[in-house]
Amino acid sequence: MKITYLGHACFLLEISNTKILFDPFITPNPLAKKIEINGIKADYILLSHGHQDHVADVEAIYQNTSATIIANFEIVRWYQKKGLEKVHPMNYGGKWKFDFGTVKMVNAVHSSSMPDGTYGGNPAGFVIQSKEKAFYYAGDTALHQDMKQIGEYYTIDFAFLPVGDNFTMDIQEALEAAKYVKTQKIIGMHYDTFPYIEIDHTAIRKLAQDQGKELVLMEIGQSIEI
Ligand code: NI
Ligand code: MN
Repeated sequence: MKITYLGHACFLLEISNTKILFDPFITPNPLAKKIEINGIKADYILLSHGHQDHVADVEAIYQNTSATIIANFEIVRWYQKKGLEKVHPMNYGGKWKFDFGTVKMVNAVHSSSMPDGTYGGNPAGFVIQSKEKAFYYAGDTALHQDMKQIGEYYTIDFAFLPVGDNFTMDIQEALEAAKYVKTQKIIGMHYDTFPYIEIDHTAIRKLAQDQGKELVLMEIGQSIEI
């Protein structure tokens, strides 16, 4: 599986030739200036919640790629009203088998409204059992006990977890979340984009190392194979 970091909470995954994009927030992100959104190819766009810093580039990328938008019912409805018809609505506890793997929508402790203030349903995370690896994309969330269930029912190879604090959990809680979902490998997200969430990379890497966890903080534009 190839993972490319496009800044903030946005990742492009390539799983057996299928491209899935999470939470596109690229053109408004000054740290992601070098990313050209017209060059992004996607088959699916997964959205954790409706906040601007997760959906800003959805329409542009949808128009370029006609990717299917996977999100909660309210977010999907909002895009349908704008004429974006290739959608797949989900909600907590539900799963669906797509060609790249099975997606289960799980809860996140956060909020969710669309950029125009419309109710955006409940914020979500995703547990994805792909053809290659199984992983958890937490979305924006506080640490919560339900993550333990993910660890009980799934074998998680790695987890995308927010580490930036202020709007989400911090690194200490992300390390706890990694214990709950029983994974050694964390890909950090939701840090540095805004002054409220700037973090010291060296310090948080050390905290992870001290707990025997691998914390990956990708460069924007960087790709890794997992
Ligand atoms: Ni948010
Ligand atoms: Mn956010």
